Amino acid sequence: MRMNAVPVDITDPRAAAYTVPLEDFDVSKAGLFQADAQGPFFERLRHEDPVHYCRQSSGGPYWSITRYRDIRQIDSDHQNFSSDSTLGGVTLHDRSDDFRYPSFISMDEPTHRSQRMSVAPMFTPPSLAQLQDTISSRAAAILDQLPRNETFNWVQHVSVELTAQMLATLLGFPFEERRRLIRWSNVATANLNSGLVSSEEERHAILQECADCFIGLWNERVNAEPAPDLISMLAHSPATRNMDRRTFLGNILLLIVGGNDTTRNSISGGLLALNRFPDQYRKLRENPALVDDMVPEIIRWQTPVSYMRRTALRDVEFNGKTIREGDKVLMWYASGNRDEEMFEQADDFIIDRRNARNHLSFGFGIHRCLGLRLAEMQLRMLWQEIMKRFPLIEVVGEPKRILSSLLRGYEELPVRIAA
Ligand code: HEM
Repeated sequence: MRMNAVPVDITDPRAAAYTVPLEDFDVSKAGLFQADAQGPFFERLRHEDPVHYCRQSSGGPYWSITRYRDIRQIDSDHQNFSSDSTLGGVTLHDRSDDFRYPSFISMDEPTHRSQRMSVAPMFTPPSLAQLQDTISSRAAAILDQLPRNETFNWVQHVSVELTAQMLATLLGFPFEERRRLIRWSNVATANLNSGLVSSEEERHAILQECADCFIGLWNERVNAEPAPDLISMLAHSPATRNMDRRTFLGNILLLIVGGNDTTRNSISGGLLALNRFPDQYRKLRENPALVDDMVPEIIRWQTPVSYMRRTALRDVEFNGKTIREGDKVLMWYASGNRDEEMFEQADDFIIDRRNARNHLSFGFGIHRCLGLRLAEMQLRMLWQEIMKRFPLIEVVGEPKRILSSLLRGYEELPVRIAA
């Protein structure tokens, strides 16, 4: 059982963060994020030990990089810091060969670049422009069916539904079976203590259904004319045409998880943020054109991916510390996005924040998110449709957050829309 199973009992996160000795800090504990208690711990690290070594965690020893400018520096330095899955990939916990699914996010150059290029045409502005009307009309249809005057879970009714629809379209996946994508995404990312899967063997078995299903779609597309969907693009590109089963599954999961959890949690996070900062909600009601500015601020404030890991390829001197070859390095976007040196009143949600676009949520460097324009477009379209319909969507209870230090997200967000 992983150490993350130990619940983090933090009734006063600030007091806890400033009492625990720095050498005992382990900010990778999933419970810390589930309790939304990570903020003061990162604040202290940024101020007192911005390149911090954790000697022991459920994923072994690791470095935490917590300042904005340091994260950008490490993320840009792929010569010294690798993403390769054989060294451990981009998450803290190493996986044994049996449970490793390489994808281009966990590859170094030149393979990374050639595989990324295979699907990049889907995310260019002209290609996305063609999706714009579909996104708007789907968002409108979802919103028009929402219950009035009763409490419902925004995550399931809106965030999950809209992202599932979008993902099915991108992948050319049977639309009526789209909830299977959500299940595979949830299984792929579930913490082993979350109750969804209890062992790597179980996860592996479920993900084989995903592999089999997509191999069926692949076989149909590989012999057909190239089509504008991600499976067809992978099937027709020389760089990805001959992937083995594991890499095929890895890349499918990358696209499913990349396009799903992140956007979903930004959709929920945005509504929560507006409710936590009612003056900003008021400002938006008075000037709905601010949706365009608000979108990057939602993504900064939420930071749907808390960190990405790299592995040092050689000894590196970094800000007075020696990071040794083979060491794990976690770039905490969740902290960099709250760095007061970069963002004034960094914990606050300010819909017209001047420099929100400089956030780190999409990473930086060669692995910078491929789907970022799509994510922004989905949020923009959704919020435009929301503002046409509902002056106020009220969050009426505490959100239930997922148990993960990698993905910052929500299982439940109870809301109510007046009749
Ligand atoms: C708000 C929504 C999103 C956030 C916060 C997000 C975040 C990220 C982050 C942090 C990375 C890694 C960056 C790095 O290592 O430097 C990444 C990579 C990636 N994302 Fe996203 N993402 C989002 C939406 C999407 C969408 C909609 C897709 C489309 C399917 C997508 C596809 C990808 C892919 C394919 C990569 C790998 C890029 C590479 O390794 O070259 N993402 N994303």
